[in-house]
Amino acid sequence: MSRHGAKKHSESPTAENGGILCDDLGFSGEEAYKLLRTNLVFSFTDSESCKVIGITSAVRGEGKSTTSINLAYTIAKTGRKVLLLDADMRLPTVAKRLDIRRSPGLSDLLVGESGLNDVLQPFRKSTMFYVIAAGSLPPNPSELLGSDRMQTVIETLSTKFDYIIVDLPPVNIVSDGLLLSKLVNGYLFVIKQEQTTRQDISEAMRKFSIVSAKILGFVMTNAESGKKYYKKYMKKYGYGYGYGYGYGYGHRSRSEALPENGDGTENEETNRST
Ligand SMILES: Nc1ncnc2c1ncn2[C@@H]1O[C@H](COP(=O)(O)OP(=O)(O)O)[C@@H](O)[C@H]1O
Ligand SMILES: [Mg+2]
Repeated sequence: MSRHGAKKHSESPTAENGGILCDDLGFSGEEAYKLLRTNLVFSFTDSESCKVIGITSAVRGEGKSTTSINLAYTIAKTGRKVLLLDADMRLPTVAKRLDIRRSPGLSDLLVGESGLNDVLQPFRKSTMFYVIAAGSLPPNPSELLGSDRMQTVIETLSTKFDYIIVDLPPVNIVSDGLLLSKLVNGYLFVIKQEQTTRQDISEAMRKFSIVSAKILGFVMTNAESGKKYYKKYMKKYGYGYGYGYGYGYGHRSRSEALPENGDGTENEETNRST
């Protein structure tokens, strides 16, 4: 794949991205992302085709971008070819967090101003981790995400990558993320402990059900001790499993996961990894 148009390879954490990549989060942070990767990768049966995973949440600031970046990077570290696509064109953060250029990016690609080779940025030379940043801020992000061109872009990218991780806007604020329901294999829904409310989640689930979206799992951020939350939410929404991780700046917490049956039974093997 061409590297044309890349600003540079980011090789090590900078002031901008230090503490963002799971490499820098210490053992529990890294293990939590590995656990998320393991659960996610094993939830797909067909290993041949590209998996497109949308990351969203109810509102802003719940950890969608952080999860997207680290999930993409953690999968790339297993040798897979992974694309991180910043589709939050209203409030993009991926470029700044990774210290790469924001445009040209997705919006420029969708309006036909740039080609794929202009927008693809390799992130770590040691992995096949590529990023498409959000691009120039467009006046009509919903229209762009719901366009035929977006479908063509995802279809084309699917022939080039094993995984596409799409960082989306929050579903309770704008409908953009739901417009991709037919283009993604499913969504990971991010819940921030002590912030996301039951009402937020109910509202988001209602929106997902309207478009018959598939929820692949839940990610809990800012988790200090997530078990009681998982039990509560999984029981309420009846999903088979969930993901939790709880690193933080300060490394105050640890990773946890629900057992596959999601019945609320505690899983003692909290740091399983590949
Ligand atoms: N797993 C986590 N644990 C603790 N804090 C987190 C975690 N993920 C994200 N954060 C914090 O939440 C803030 C918002 O994260 P971000 O990924 O930008 O959210 P979103 O994309 O949902 O708006 C970040 O600045 C970070 O401080
Ligand atoms: Mg974000």
